[in-house]
Amino acid sequence: MSTTNTEPSSWRAAACTVTPVPSVHRLLTPAEDVARGFQGSPKRLPPKYFYDDHGSRLFDRICDTPEYYPMRTEARLLAESARAVMASVQPDCILEMGSGTSRKTEHLLQAAEQANAQPVYWPFDVCDSIMTSAAERLCGRFPWLTIHALVGDYGAGLDHLPRPPGRCLYLFLGGSLGNFEPEESARVLSEIASHMGPDDRLLLGVDRVKDRSVLEAAYDDAAGVTAAFNRNVLNVLNHEVDADFEPEAFAHEAFFNEAQSRIEMHLVSRRDQRVQVGALERVYDFPEGERLHTEISRKFTPASIADELARAGLVMDEHYQPEDGAFSLVLAAPQQ
Ligand code: SAH
Ligand code: TRP
Repeated sequence: MSTTNTEPSSWRAAACTVTPVPSVHRLLTPAEDVARGFQGSPKRLPPKYFYDDHGSRLFDRICDTPEYYPMRTEARLLAESARAVMASVQPDCILEMGSGTSRKTEHLLQAAEQANAQPVYWPFDVCDSIMTSAAERLCGRFPWLTIHALVGDYGAGLDHLPRPPGRCLYLFLGGSLGNFEPEESARVLSEIASHMGPDDRLLLGVDRVKDRSVLEAAYDDAAGVTAAFNRNVLNVLNHEVDADFEPEAFAHEAFFNEAQSRIEMHLVSRRDQRVQVGALERVYDFPEGERLHTEISRKFTPASIADELARAGLVMDEHYQPEDGAFSLVLAAPQQ
């Protein structure tokens, strides 16, 4: 989760560079995020703290659980639509927000390869270690590929995000837009839209409203990987703000909040406990049942997707969805 520059790895120094993206606004330090987030009721935390190296690996394991349908559904939609998307956009570069392991991106790169195209790949993620191991894998599979990895926080303003040359396909997959509150997602999507040129396109993957039991199981798998991912944020805090959380003393909880059309993830204190935060030189009480609200994952309808795009000055070109409407992959263009 660091934003320090990492030396390009020796295996293909010429083909993969890693560049930090400075944030536009001063970012709150982890201690400031904790001080602010723990003031409210319930206590909250920004979700980027999930994604240290261990958290990113746990997220990759969530994607392989039988309950987490978004990964498989979106991957299938991408496999089916990749050729059409690449043929219609013909991008010189692919810029991906929150690229993680870039597993699904391989469908687009494969479609490019089959069309004898060689777009340059610009992954952008807060977790540099997951991006560099993804880059290594991608360069093995696609020997022609040039990668410019960007490390930073996509919620912190995109003014300093490099503008790759040529026509650009932006990717924002995995339902990550839904991890922002409505006002924030409107801002992030508008910033992406203003970064785009008239011929650029955005491929956006968002999850859809569906049966509560299916939604809740996706965020509380039987093997407990999601619970471990949620609790890992406490290990990150222990490290980042010199805290002494005992992750096992908190229960993982995920439920569908229908009124706000979102999954909420919480950590619930299993007993009365007191946590020290060294960086703030203060203690926080977590009585039994006290909640730390760690994440939201908004679920959309076709109407709310159209609304979200319109607010950002984008229009829908194509809508790829399975028959049961479980997930939406949308190709969007800047309003002319
Ligand atoms: N796009 C991938 C990964 C989704 S998980 C997929 O669809 O499978 C979310 C990814 O976004 C993680 O890799 C995480 O490190 C990254 N991320 C989360 N918050 C971020 C932020 N504020 N800025 C940049 N990347 C972020
Ligand atoms: N973007 C993912 C989603 O909303 C993030 C995610 C999946 C997640 N599972 C999670 C976040 C569990 C926190 C906890 O589906």
